[in-house]
Amino acid sequence: LSDALKTALEGYEWSTKLFHHVLKYTSDGKEGHNYLQKRGFEQSDIEQFQLGYSPNKDQFLSTFLQNKGFKLENLLEVGLLSSRDGNTFFDRFKGRVIFPIQNHQGKVVGFGGRAIEDGIEPKYLNSPDSKLFQKGKLLYNFYEARKHFQKQKEVVLFEGYADVIKAYQANVYHAVATLGTSLTKYQSNLLKRYVDRVVICFDGDQAGKDASYKTAEQLKEVGLDVLVANVPYQMDPDDFIDTYGPEKFQNQVLGSAESYIAFALNYLKKDYNLQAKHDQLAYIEKALDLVATVDHAVERDVYLKELEETFDLYRETLENEIIERRRINN
Ligand code: GTP
Ligand code: MN
Ligand code: MN
Ligand code: MN
Ligand code: MN
Repeated sequence: LSDALKTALEGYEWSTKLFHHVLKYTSDGKEGHNYLQKRGFEQSDIEQFQLGYSPNKDQFLSTFLQNKGFKLENLLEVGLLSSRDGNTFFDRFKGRVIFPIQNHQGKVVGFGGRAIEDGIEPKYLNSPDSKLFQKGKLLYNFYEARKHFQKQKEVVLFEGYADVIKAYQANVYHAVATLGTSLTKYQSNLLKRYVDRVVICFDGDQAGKDASYKTAEQLKEVGLDVLVANVPYQMDPDDFIDTYGPEKFQNQVLGSAESYIAFALNYLKKDYNLQAKHDQLAYIEKALDLVATVDHAVERDVYLKELEETFDLYRETLENEIIERRRINN
């Protein structure tokens, strides 16, 4: 580790401790604390995830770090501070609740900073990519979740930090989130090294469905089993847990997760006008392609039955199509 990186790590360590302390014990942290409380975050979450608050002051952190002996210009590149002229330094995360992001060795290497009022852009300000912090390589909560992978061989993948924390409240410990970007090949391969199965639990809006489909395809590609959880429209997992509680989340959302194929068969309907014969045929072709990739005969049977009934088709025709496709695929 170069000296610059060591300094940056120390900077993040001190900043994490300071913001955490501010949130818990000081009047500067009051508005951050109120915000978290209003959203249903508990004291145990604040501890477990080392949450903090960066006071709404220009030079709270920078003064603190300077007094600790840091050369502030060394902390610019890793995004702890910002500067207009390179000489005077400002608190980059001021007025934001801090979600520390650990690397896979458990060291804090970045922050997600959430605005505590509506309408502030961006809603989340993240540390910039640097030698220390690469959004495409890290996953939020991976260090903690890894301890729980052995038991289940499974990970739950969320969109947001808040979802991971609320899931933790609901005793779902094997959970991670991307850092505000779509899942990368690197991250897919990383998960593949630790688990057999990924349960995608994204937001219940169209964007979440689109992302679920893309992410599922990518995870399949590296050989992972994929399930897609059933998050109601216009909710996200964190809202759901707030509204309906941990048990319903476990049973109705995670417990009723469907296989990638079942999800895709339904999701892809949006691309077709199923009232029109021509489109219907195109959809059925696509559906058969998908079903043919399933190795379990019984599972294939479930999907074929649905196609048979929905489109009033002969079962034998469908089965022949599957045999043909599987012959070509193998
Ligand atoms: P809350 O509103 O705090 O519950 O956040 P959320 O996690 O539900 O947010 P959303 O579903 O909108 O976004 C999911 C994830 O995308 C967040 O956890 C962030 O990592 C990221 N994200 C959201 N908004 C922004 C933004 O304005 N800028 C950046 N860089 N990332 C964002
Ligand atoms: Mn603590
Ligand atoms: Mn969203
Ligand atoms: Mn969300
Ligand atoms: Mn949310």
